[in-house]
Amino acid sequence: MDSSEAKEEIKKAADIVEVIGQYVELKKRGQNYVGLCPFHSERSPSFTVNQNKQIYHCFGCGKGGDVFTFWMEYHNLAFPQSLKDLAERYNIPLPQRRDLYADRKKTELKEQLFKINDLAGRYFHNILLRSADGKPGRDYFSRRHISQETISNFRLGYAVKRWDGLVNYLRSKNSALDRAAKAGLLVPKDNEEYYDRFRGRIIFPIFDLNHHNIGFGGRILDDSLPKYINTPETPIYHKGYYLYGLDSAYANIREKGLAIIVEGYLDMLVLRQHGISNVIATLGTALTSDQIRRLKGYTKDVVVLFDPDEAGRKAALKSFPLFLNEGISAKVVVLPQDEDPDSFVNKHGSDAFKKLLGRAASIFDFYLDQALANMDTGVDGQIRVLKEVLPVFINLDQGATRSLYVHRFAEKTGINEATVWEELRHHTNASQLKGRFSTVQDPRKYGSDLQFLNLLVYYPEKIDTFRDQEWGLIVSDPEINKIIEVIMEKFPSEGNLDRIEEFLDTPVAKEQFRVILMSKPFYSEESVSQAVSEFEKKITRVKVSQSIRKASAEGDMEMLNRLIREKQDLDSNSKNVTKPKHTNNS
Ligand code: CTP
Ligand code: MN
Repeated sequence: MDSSEAKEEIKKAADIVEVIGQYVELKKRGQNYVGLCPFHSERSPSFTVNQNKQIYHCFGCGKGGDVFTFWMEYHNLAFPQSLKDLAERYNIPLPQRRDLYADRKKTELKEQLFKINDLAGRYFHNILLRSADGKPGRDYFSRRHISQETISNFRLGYAVKRWDGLVNYLRSKNSALDRAAKAGLLVPKDNEEYYDRFRGRIIFPIFDLNHHNIGFGGRILDDSLPKYINTPETPIYHKGYYLYGLDSAYANIREKGLAIIVEGYLDMLVLRQHGISNVIATLGTALTSDQIRRLKGYTKDVVVLFDPDEAGRKAALKSFPLFLNEGISAKVVVLPQDEDPDSFVNKHGSDAFKKLLGRAASIFDFYLDQALANMDTGVDGQIRVLKEVLPVFINLDQGATRSLYVHRFAEKTGINEATVWEELRHHTNASQLKGRFSTVQDPRKYGSDLQFLNLLVYYPEKIDTFRDQEWGLIVSDPEINKIIEVIMEKFPSEGNLDRIEEFLDTPVAKEQFRVILMSKPFYSEESVSQAVSEFEKKITRVKVSQSIRKASAEGDMEMLNRLIREKQDLDSNSKNVTKPKHTNNS
């Protein structure tokens, strides 16, 4: 069988829904399956998989293709490797084929690294299980209440306290030591020799979703430092991308609709041992958006365990916009002082832990509570907290959500809400000023009223153009009408649109105005004059329609005919004009 035959064979054998479904939570919708796109940030599903046609397409980012495209894109692999992976998965024999030299080299290297990790993992595991040298490791695990079953399920190991334990073992197996160094297992010395990276440590092997051993974590047995040593970045290991234990948890996470994220290897293992299977751990870094994006294929609900201290507060704050922008609802469980999940569950059992889960607070509230508990009294403290939180607000994708959090923030910290907005506006402007507006937002998602308001806010020099026109004819929302009235009246005497909010007397109008201030401009420098003329035409069109109604009510046929012709001219002159959907409100 040649490789194009193999490809066809795989296409027949593979079900795209099953393959993609391993990585993305798919729901049946009509003919298709839909889910959150793994290739871009989104909160409502536009990623669509069609089982009949065996294709996928994301209506949000435009990525799409067949099962091979998905595999390449998702795992960041070249075609030959994807073919191989899928062939293996569906047990289809592949011909030996010649790939591009570079691809083949890369693939070969990765495979060699998997292999050498696998070999080393077995070595560490066997020492722990059987060797006399493994006693310190066995003692340690039993002190930490780690069972035999856990040791074997997670292939835990022990690295002897020598410089050449693994070196000698690999030599005896005729393994290339430079490969082991590339895998991060050995460290090169000056004289083309190597020594063991992991010495006198218990070993946690880390696996990817295809059960390849991609790296290791190693903990020292006493209080010496560093407490943990981990595999450095290698061609197969990226600590900000993988999650410890996801390979054995993803099915359960999907089933429960919840993922629990802890910080430590041992925390994860001990919780698993207590029957909590939907738990995973980060790998010694703050959570990344890559990790969150992987997770959202399995669930949209996450509980994170952060320490109730400054580090935990900052970590929570940092991850907050990541979760929010991925459309994941994240909650935080706070453990009693000086407990981590491992000590807590060993002391109080899994039921107590589950009770805590039930009481998880939203991540933002956790941050606020922590910030408040630690906030210095007085203005200095307030300024510090405000500074801390501003970048987070700026990074939120959506104006409306931001309003909500700003409100809550102001309420809880006692900082004046207007002050928060002022600061925010100040900082947002600073970053937007480069090239006036570097990004514009698609206005079509917004009503015509908001489009008009957005234009006035971002191009205040156009306010005069409309001041003497009957702009009220094209603004049907009474709140927005009020806002524009205030703008027309107070600008430019107020000089600054920031202060307009003070003159708005309803909360709804204030809120609407803020949403616009915080949203991006809809019109670029190039398109703004066209937008102005379209709004002007729109006003004229409404006026003509009014006159038509008047003329027909009065039976003035001559006038009516003239007006109708005028209206037809107007309509045919404007191709791109957003048609006024509303009737006028005069
Ligand atoms: N970590 C790390 N390097 C360090 C310290 C910690 O990579 N020098 C990572 C490890 O993944 C560790 C996690 O951060 O599991 C949490 O650290 P910590 O709370 O200090 O360790 P625990 O896992 O709780 O270990 P133990 O219970 O044995 O103290
Ligand atoms: Mn611990």
